[in-house]
Amino acid sequence: MDNQFKRTLVTTALPYANGPIHIGHLAGVYIPADIYVRYFRSKKKDILWVCGSDEHGVPITLKARKEGVEPQVIVDRYHEIIKKSFAEFGVSFDIYSRTSNKIHHETAAGFFKKLHDDNQFIEKTSEQLYDEQEKQFLADRYVTGTCPHCGYDKAYGDQCEKCGTSLSAKDLINPQSSISGNKPVLKETKHWYLPLDKHEPFLRQWIIEEHKEWKSNVYGQCKSWIDLGLQARAVSRDLNWGVPVPVEGVDKKVLYVWFDAPIGYISATKELTPDWELYWKNKETRLLHFIGKDNIVFHCIIFPAMLKAHGDYILPDNVPANEFLNLEGDKISTSRNWAVWLHEYLEDFKDQQDVLRYTLTANAPETSDNDFTWKNFQARNNNELVAVLGNFINRTLVLSNKYYGGKVPARGELTEQDKDALAGIPALKAEIEKNLEQFRFREALKQVMNLARLGNKYLAETEPWKLFKENPASVETIMNINLQITANLAILIEPFMPFTSAKIFDFLQIDALTWEKAGGDILVDGHQIIKKAGLLFAKIEDEQIQAQVDKLEQTKIDNQPKNVKPMKDAISFDDFQKMDIRVGTILEAQKVPKTKKLLQIKIDTGIDQRTVVSGIAEYFKPEDIIGKQVSVLVNLDPRKIKGIESQGMILMAENEDGSLYFIQPNDKVENGSSVS
Ligand code: 2FM
Ligand code: ZN
Repeated sequence: MDNQFKRTLVTTALPYANGPIHIGHLAGVYIPADIYVRYFRSKKKDILWVCGSDEHGVPITLKARKEGVEPQVIVDRYHEIIKKSFAEFGVSFDIYSRTSNKIHHETAAGFFKKLHDDNQFIEKTSEQLYDEQEKQFLADRYVTGTCPHCGYDKAYGDQCEKCGTSLSAKDLINPQSSISGNKPVLKETKHWYLPLDKHEPFLRQWIIEEHKEWKSNVYGQCKSWIDLGLQARAVSRDLNWGVPVPVEGVDKKVLYVWFDAPIGYISATKELTPDWELYWKNKETRLLHFIGKDNIVFHCIIFPAMLKAHGDYILPDNVPANEFLNLEGDKISTSRNWAVWLHEYLEDFKDQQDVLRYTLTANAPETSDNDFTWKNFQARNNNELVAVLGNFINRTLVLSNKYYGGKVPARGELTEQDKDALAGIPALKAEIEKNLEQFRFREALKQVMNLARLGNKYLAETEPWKLFKENPASVETIMNINLQITANLAILIEPFMPFTSAKIFDFLQIDALTWEKAGGDILVDGHQIIKKAGLLFAKIEDEQIQAQVDKLEQTKIDNQPKNVKPMKDAISFDDFQKMDIRVGTILEAQKVPKTKKLLQIKIDTGIDQRTVVSGIAEYFKPEDIIGKQVSVLVNLDPRKIKGIESQGMILMAENEDGSLYFIQPNDKVENGSSVS
């Protein structure tokens, strides 16, 4: 860490209070930050970590409307759920606040007001969609309609979920208000914009020139945003949920959620300590934002531009953003329930928080997206936590009790092997520190495990159980060293696996120690450790993993559109081309006598006039279909139906209730036109 700094303020993205927390949140943001902060605390550095729930924004109002409750009810519910999950996983914020509270509203409004009074905004009037019945402007999410790109008729105003295109509600064909169902109209509205273009030279200098050390994913994204050219961004919205725009005479307008949310970091610090200004306004404070990659632009460009425009605040020194964690090869999705929810994990893996913390750190999406699989979770637990870490500590404690009744033996003369083992402790500690300070948590954790590996190797090579009879003095030395390694592990593992660390300290019967104590001897000769220690980790069985995999499989089934038949096996393009489908016009139609379903139909296919027998009589009267254009598979082998030769097949769409519809051109075409 740069010595120019006397203290550190860590912020982590404020999660939206509209759903619980899943492993993607933990892996991307909160576990890395927790490791970092715990490490600094263990080093007795001045560090604060603030977070809280992000309680504004349109998705929350939509959820509230869906449930027929006030948005406050939604955020109250999820704020508590989220807070509890974090606490259960040992995520050790100094404060977990929320943006619907008074101190935040005041802080955010004050911030906006200062920028407004200092003429840091531009005011612009534009046309937005408006629901005349409800007398309210419609946020893009509140409008649905047909996607102009793919024709999907349930696209949202901000995005088409079918083809993934980002949209603006005004682009939608046949827009519809989600509130009243009515067609919205365009109406003028005034908003405040932060002129990012004005701040571009500063941002370019500050990021591109002065922060080349930022992670390449972060630096690269910022550079491309800046190179593309920055534009003014609206910082207010027509909505009645959020921080009201603090300008006289303005009604029914709130701050854009992405304007108020990062100010939440400041409000939370205010709530936490009367010294909050020291953490926000003093150049000797190092400000760090831990976030996921989807938040980079807000934390590296927009929020710094806001802070700069305000003038009183420091800017982030680093923004260690992570990529995304996928689940079993698929993007984690709250709406599709494709996630491992923290509260559900704990129901199935009681008291095994550290197994998840370990797995998520070992697979952290630090440089690219990464995948969480249950198989890997099991392997990490069984092959690493149980077989390496748990095994080393267990053998050390069992042997110490067996030989010395749990009293730490004194070391005698050291062999080269003993010296090497002891030298490994400070060497690995240095490696861990180096990696932690560069936000390389995966690598740091690997080095912690290497200390346990070193211990196992030393045990395997020295074989104290064989030496105990013939050379008891050497065994005293060996066991002393193993116990020192164990005590070092308790300290070095704490940022990553705090629950396990606490257990090891308990096994050793010492109070938790801080970072500076690690690197050498910790336990004094004759110290009494616990007589009978439990196991640190338990093997995870195949059945437990299968149950989780089955649960996800069930989610996949639940997500399938209902009543849609499964897809048939794939065919080749050649197979497809063998079918000759033409547009034809129905010339005559009559019921096939003594049948309920069959019509005998004469069609002009452009090639010829032919007869087709079709099972559509329950849905169409013969007289109604004459003159209609339909699609006909003309090269199907003729076959006799009720004595009539049917020379082809009319293509039909079948609804889930069995009702039938012709496949027709949307305008009149020549008979004989190919369908392909
Ligand atoms: O992406 C999100 O979940 C946002 N709620 C993050 C906000 S971060 C900060 F600015 F508050
Ligand atoms: Zn689309």
